[in-house]
This record gives sequence, structure tokens and C-alpha cells, in this order.
Amino acid sequence: MVTNLLKGKKGIIFGALDERSIAWKVAEQAHEQGAQMVLTNTPVAIRMGSIDALAGQTGSIVIPADATSVKDLGVLFNQTREHFGGKVDFILHSIGMSLNVRKKRDYDDLDYNYLQKTLDISAVSFHKVLQVARKQDAINRWGSVVALSYIAAQRTLFGYNDMAEAKAMLESIARSFGYIYGRDKQIRINTVSQSPVKTTAGSGVRGIDGLLDFTNRTSPLGNASAKECAQFIITLFSDLTRKITMQNIYHDGGFSSMGMSSKAMQMYTRSLNCKDCPPEEDLSS
Ligand SMILES: NC(=O)c1ccc[n+]([C@@H]2O[C@H](COP(=O)([O-])OP(=O)(O)OC[C@H]3O[C@@H](n4cnc5c(N)ncnc54)[C@H](O)[C@@H]3O)[C@@H](O)[C@H]2O)c1
Repeated sequence: MVTNLLKGKKGIIFGALDERSIAWKVAEQAHEQGAQMVLTNTPVAIRMGSIDALAGQTGSIVIPADATSVKDLGVLFNQTREHFGGKVDFILHSIGMSLNVRKKRDYDDLDYNYLQKTLDISAVSFHKVLQVARKQDAINRWGSVVALSYIAAQRTLFGYNDMAEAKAMLESIARSFGYIYGRDKQIRINTVSQSPVKTTAGSGVRGIDGLLDFTNRTSPLGNASAKECAQFIITLFSDLTRKITMQNIYHDGGFSSMGMSSKAMQMYTRSLNCKDCPPEEDLSS
């Protein structure tokens, strides 16, 4: 087993809500690999979730911040610098939320105030994190920043709703800021496009159980778990991947390169031949 991949490195992890969160698994893995961390989430998520337990487990401190607030982010980076006595080496942006999804507004009946919030929370917050960090010169040279994305940025997946637009924007921000940070500071910025996982955010996606089954049957390696995602992200924070930047990297068991697999075909054929199956649901969007 590889050890100490992140020895001596310091970072900020956004988005650990509870044990199922992808960010939670990343914090555990980073700790195991010798990193020190500041954990952050919104005040509400800190109250409702169990981030304090993660902080105890990983020897981290928790600093509240709403990632849509430039003011909160300024305080977060200041306090992080004081805590570590210097800059950070890595940042994880693991943040996503859609009010349209939460309030069950279909894609052809979006509430535009909710859409603005979806984009602000799930995509523009990434720009805010990067901009505030840059203005404070908060990231060391050869540092690494990763945000979590999903294949709905490239392809239409029923039920993903306005989060598709948010993910497309998120990936674009990684490229646009990746150029600036790479050019000036040798800092790399990437997004990881992960398989579906039944976290709090993941459970909000309409038809998540069917989606999980479909992607698992379609992917030659099966769905990637949150822990496997975390293990991959550790390599992106490590010095072994110093020339990868401005990329959207699929961590999905091969799903993104597939059309139809024999396992998915078998299931589809079985349901076509099924006499007792209920009639198709009328799905308007
Ligand atoms: N679960 C999946 O199927 C899946 C697949 C691909 C990508 N992702 C992405 O992974 C990331 C993490 O999601 P997760 O699946 O671990 O679910 P999660 O619900 O555990 O994490 C989402 C986090 O976003 C935080 N958040 C929401 N609004 C915020 C704000 N204003 N400021 C700061 N934090 C805020 C929440 O408090 C929560 O901790 C998201 O970007 C999500 O879109 C998830």
C-alpha cells in the first residue's frame, strides 16, 4: 500500500456533510496519507451534519463558510493561513445543490431564482474560491485544486435537471482559471467526473436507484464508490500528477466511453419481454 503521498501537505476540504459525502472520504484518505486539513461547510450543514466527528478523527479544525459568500471565503482563507502558519497545497471543492431539484421543479418549468442559486452554489462558488485564494496568494506553487463534476455536463441524463448547466460551468471554470493559475503559479486545477453515489446530494437526483443500476451494468469496471473517488483525488493532490491541469477526468468505471453493454442489454430485453410489467410511466421531462 502507498503511504505518505501527502506528507507535509496542507489543504482545505469543502463539502463534508456526513459519512457518505465524497469530501468525507477524501478527508479520511488525505489524513491517512499524512496531510493536515481545514474542513469547511455552511453553518447549517455543520449543525445538521457530523463534520465535528470527522475533524476529531483527522485532527482537523472546522471553519464555517458559505462558499457563495466572498466575505466568508476571505475569512476562511485568512484563518486557514493563521492556523497552518502559511499557504495551502490543495483544495477540494465538493459542493452541489439545486433548489429546483429539491422543490421538484421539472427542467421545462424551472424557477429562475432557484436556477441562479443552483449556479451560484454549484459552479460560481468554485470561481469565488479560486479568486479569493488568488487575491490572498493562498496556494503554494505546484498546488492542486479539484472539484467534483458529473457526466451530465456533456450528456443529457433524465432527472439531473439544472445541475447539468452547473456542472458544465464548473468544468469551464476549471479550464479558464487553470490557465491563469498554471501560467502564473504552476498550480493545477481539474474536475473529476464521478459515477453516481447515494450521498445526500446524490439521493436528490430523480430515479437515482435506476441510474445507479444502469451505470453499474453499463460500466465495464462497475460504478466507482466514494472511497475509490477519494483515492483517485489523493493522486491528483500528490506530486505524482504535477503536469495534469485544466482536465475533466472521468472516474466512472468506463461508463463515459460506453454505449450499450451486454449486462444492460440483457436487462432491457428482459423488460421488453415482460408480460406483467406495469405500462411505461408518462415522463414529461
Ligand atoms: N453523489 C453523486 O452521485 C455525485 C456524482 C458526481 C459528482 N458529485 C458531486 O460531488 C460533490 C459532493 O456531493 P456528495 O455527493 O458528496 O453529496 P453531499 O450532499 O454529501 O455534499 C454536498 C455538499 O455541498 C455542501 N454545500 C451546499 N451548499 C453549500 C454552500 N453554499 N457553501 C458550502 N457548501 C455547501 C453541503 O453542505 C454538502 O456538504 C457535488 O459537487 C456533487 O454534485 C456527486
